[in-house]
Amino acid sequence: MKNKVIENLTIERIATEGKSVAHHEGKVVFVQNVAPGDVVDVRITRGKSTFMEGEAIKIHQYSPDRVEPFCSHFGVCGGCKWQHINYELQMSYKRQQVIDQFQRIGKLPVPEVQPIIGSANTQYYRNKLDFTFSNNRWLTREEIDSGKEFERNALGFHIPKRFDKIVDVEHCYLQGNLSNEVRNALRDFALENGISFFDMIQQKGLLRNLIIRTSTTGEIMVIVQFGEDQPENIQKVMEFLSGRFPELTSLLYIINLKKNETFHDQDIHTFMGRDYIVEEMEGLEFRIGPKSFYQTNSLQAYELYKVAREFAGLTGEEVVYDLYTGTGTIANFVAKNAKQVIGIEYVEAAIEDAKVNAKVNGLENTLFYAGDMKDMLNDEFIASHAAPDVIITDPPRAGMHEDVVNMLLKLEAPKIVYVSCNPATQARDVALLGEKYKLDIVQPVDMFPQTYHVENVVLLTLNK
Ligand SMILES: C[S@@+](CC[C@H](N)C(=O)[O-])C[C@H]1O[C@@H](n2cnc3c(N)ncnc32)[C@H](O)[C@@H]1O
Repeated sequence: MKNKVIENLTIERIATEGKSVAHHEGKVVFVQNVAPGDVVDVRITRGKSTFMEGEAIKIHQYSPDRVEPFCSHFGVCGGCKWQHINYELQMSYKRQQVIDQFQRIGKLPVPEVQPIIGSANTQYYRNKLDFTFSNNRWLTREEIDSGKEFERNALGFHIPKRFDKIVDVEHCYLQGNLSNEVRNALRDFALENGISFFDMIQQKGLLRNLIIRTSTTGEIMVIVQFGEDQPENIQKVMEFLSGRFPELTSLLYIINLKKNETFHDQDIHTFMGRDYIVEEMEGLEFRIGPKSFYQTNSLQAYELYKVAREFAGLTGEEVVYDLYTGTGTIANFVAKNAKQVIGIEYVEAAIEDAKVNAKVNGLENTLFYAGDMKDMLNDEFIASHAAPDVIITDPPRAGMHEDVVNMLLKLEAPKIVYVSCNPATQARDVALLGEKYKLDIVQPVDMFPQTYHVENVVLLTLNK
């Protein structure tokens, strides 16, 4: 089947991971970057006995639900892949994904899934962006065919599935204007001054990566990662940024000579301002350091946490476990409504941040522990801490380890509030918890407009 072209295929619906679905001679065909209602010719890129995958090579009829993508990088850049679908429909597809996963995998009776909570901002909603410098800019087909010479240095995002190719970003609709100005000014300064951009194959070049973090309090953190130790040029770059953008509240840099861009194990140098920014929620302050996780859509994180708190139904008397607590944001957020909150997380630096955040906010009823959940949540831990009345759990995409699920079954907390960024693994875990729990409420929340990602919160109550 590979390379065969199927003509006039009608795209029917969206399935998991944002793939669109059509049928051909009884077989499912998954197609990328189209919309339900489109009629397209598809070239098959992969053929299996039960399904096929393909790419649309010609669109005969556009779906009436399509909207004009707003970004000039749409289709090339890996982000914001659903710009061509109107926001109302994006939300209904996301809710449908949750329904499908729970009906397919959940095995429990599924209550009516609540309408998804939409994001007030559908553009400029991210508080963190990560740009890569590269001397290997992605060229479009027209640029290659023109035979002209183009600037090959770039600062922007990776092309999907191409680790070494970067789309040079002119304007990104995910983060406010200052972010666009900082990125473009730094790229122009580097080009004018002959400062080298990183070569991912050769592993050399000074400018490697740029991270911009913002908060709703107006604070801005800029982190520049350098791939070589060139003190004079580093000074020049950092002086340029501090002089041009005095409003930055935190200007940091890292000299990262490792093979990859991760910097959890690297020293961070403060060039200007503080080494953290402050986020605020209901009068609580959250310090966010360069290595700390914080939900990337701050306004919507508040909506998500309110749902979790409402489902927990706290009266001030409860012991709450906040599993996979990150920097303790949920734990600190619910602390004043609980008797005690215990947060567990495996990144030690995050647990240190969680403790600082509790202290800064004068919260004295929180305890935080660092360690792998499946090892931490053992009989000894349970014996030396009060039993939970409510468990809030917010694991990574892979969901919870089976040992953790089994421990939750053993703990028999009256309520479990399960927050997840992956309804498939959430539904799998909920099916296991179904041995003792009933699925009461299912509430999807949209944290990432213009993408297929969906966050989902469920409330489980212990069978009497
Ligand atoms: C989706 S984040 C939740 C963050 C937090 N609840 C919040 O809203 O900011 C998942 C967290 O689980 C942590 N984590 C991942 N695997 C873990 C494990 N095996 N044991 C403990 N924590 C883990 C990650 O470091 C991350 O902070």
